[in-house]
Amino acid sequence: MAGVVLQVDDLRTYFYTSRGIVRAVDGISYDIERAETVALVGESGSGKSVSALAILRLVPYPGKVVGGRVLFNGEDLLQAPENRMREIRGHGIAMVFQEPMTSLNPTMTIGAQLAEPLRFHLGMNGQSARQRVIELLNTVGIQDPERLCRSYPHQASGGMRQRVLIAMALSCNPEIVIADEATTALDVTLQAQILDMLTGFSRQTGASVLLITHNMGIVARYADKINVMYEGKLVESGTCEEVMDHAKHAYTLRLLQCVPRIDRKDWQLGGGEGRPEK
Ligand SMILES: Nc1ncnc2c1ncn2[C@@H]1O[C@H](COP(=O)(O)OP(=O)(O)O)[C@@H](O)[C@H]1O
Ligand SMILES: [Mg+2]
Repeated sequence: MAGVVLQVDDLRTYFYTSRGIVRAVDGISYDIERAETVALVGESGSGKSVSALAILRLVPYPGKVVGGRVLFNGEDLLQAPENRMREIRGHGIAMVFQEPMTSLNPTMTIGAQLAEPLRFHLGMNGQSARQRVIELLNTVGIQDPERLCRSYPHQASGGMRQRVLIAMALSCNPEIVIADEATTALDVTLQAQILDMLTGFSRQTGASVLLITHNMGIVARYADKINVMYEGKLVESGTCEEVMDHAKHAYTLRLLQCVPRIDRKDWQLGGGEGRPEK
């Protein structure tokens, strides 16, 4: 299994609520290889976010990972000590959420917030951390990084803040980036810019991307493989061509029928032309 960086094996995560057990993630298995972009799609409530949180052991109460394995380079994260998990969250597997779920600290400048993990996780001094922050902001397409560094989060637009969060996720050279609807709130042009940048980062560094979205246009353009989730289970898995051309599950077919067309014009619904070259 050379090249596999993450193996999710029969992962189960349940919520123990007063009204009963909710099987949010009910036995899913998939692999992610180095430098690969894997899409996880599925309707709202199908368990995508919970399954991602389970990978990093961040499932909120009353949820609990009740079974399975999450092998990161062969190491089972579900058995790892908490201090090891902190290391992994710092620079092994980075996660970017849709903005409302994430917290930029409102009392710190953007530059200081970006520099902090570089100093703590990578041991950089102030000067080199500042330089690296400017580089990172350039990478995510910020025009005037010095100026943004001096601003507070409320002074930046939603799109800027989302780029900052992505810069933060990339800053410690993660091996896997999990983007959970990370660009959903942004306009189509900005989404494409950010996803281009993310896949560019993946090509440059060999990092893998777990792209959680319900936008099949994005999947068609950026993903190597697709997993379709429905009611806590994977109902469809394969390369983009396999899943899009031979979708079996009713949900996948519905999803394919309402593709927001940010993808290339040469990709056709259910057509035999396959996915365009990246
Ligand atoms: N805090 C919680 N308490 C109880 N159930 C929850 C909680 N969080 C999520 N769930 C359940 O887990 C399921 C999956 O949620 P989620 O992973 O957020 O879906 P998705 O990201 O695919 O929209 C939901 O149907 C919901 O019922
Ligand atoms: Mg979600």
